[in-house]
Amino acid sequence: MSARLRANGVIIAIDGPSGAGKSSITKLLARRLGYLHIDTGAMFRAVALMAKRAQIACEDDPALAVLCRGLDISFCRDGENCRVLANGEDVSGAIRSEEIGLLTSCVSARRPVRDALLAMQRGMGEAGGVVLEGRDIGTVVFPDAEVKFFLSASAEERGRRRYLELTARGEQVSLKETIDKVALRDRQDEGREYAPLRKAADAVDIDSTSLSMDEVLALMESAVRQKLAALQGE
Ligand code: DC
Repeated sequence: MSARLRANGVIIAIDGPSGAGKSSITKLLARRLGYLHIDTGAMFRAVALMAKRAQIACEDDPALAVLCRGLDISFCRDGENCRVLANGEDVSGAIRSEEIGLLTSCVSARRPVRDALLAMQRGMGEAGGVVLEGRDIGTVVFPDAEVKFFLSASAEERGRRRYLELTARGEQVSLKETIDKVALRDRQDEGREYAPLRKAADAVDIDSTSLSMDEVLALMESAVRQKLAALQGE
């Protein structure tokens, strides 16, 4: 890991497959540190939603490039929560459906989309004081992030967590179907040509299969505080 304290602190990268607990952990860690939480998956989801509304096919790179050029994505804090705005419209709820999740996996593999969001993400994070969650933060977006984590869990456990989340929201899904979708998303994210999901060589590996949220948070916070202390002492 590089050794540099930026204007607002350090950059913390949290990568890993869907359902590993990245969003909840990133939110808590950011709050503890007083850092900004950047959910890059939500940015890709916003692109997928807008592409669907504009009836752009997932493989239509020229149309996706035009869409991204005219798209402004931002985050705004709403009490404990963080809202996602696409051209000023709050799309936080609309981007969370299963349908948009699968479409996002396809859209996020396209070059023009990755290029456009890469630039936006670097702009949002380069001053530090941020926790970014995604798939390629430690490998592509900020390979020089001061702290990197790779958070994973077995596909069965991630499917089970997702199933509980969806049924709690009243969605009619089966456990097997949900685990299969998690596994499909993994294959799409790991197998794509650009910025595939992969652990950075210098990322701290955390398997959350049998760890509580508090345990994962404690591991991460301690690693971050050690890094901050080392950098402040330099
Ligand atoms: O984390 P999530 O489930 O909201 O991500 C939605 C999709 O976006 C997922 O299929 C992977 C993709 N994604 C990506 O390719 N790169 C990122 N940095 C974040 C998400």
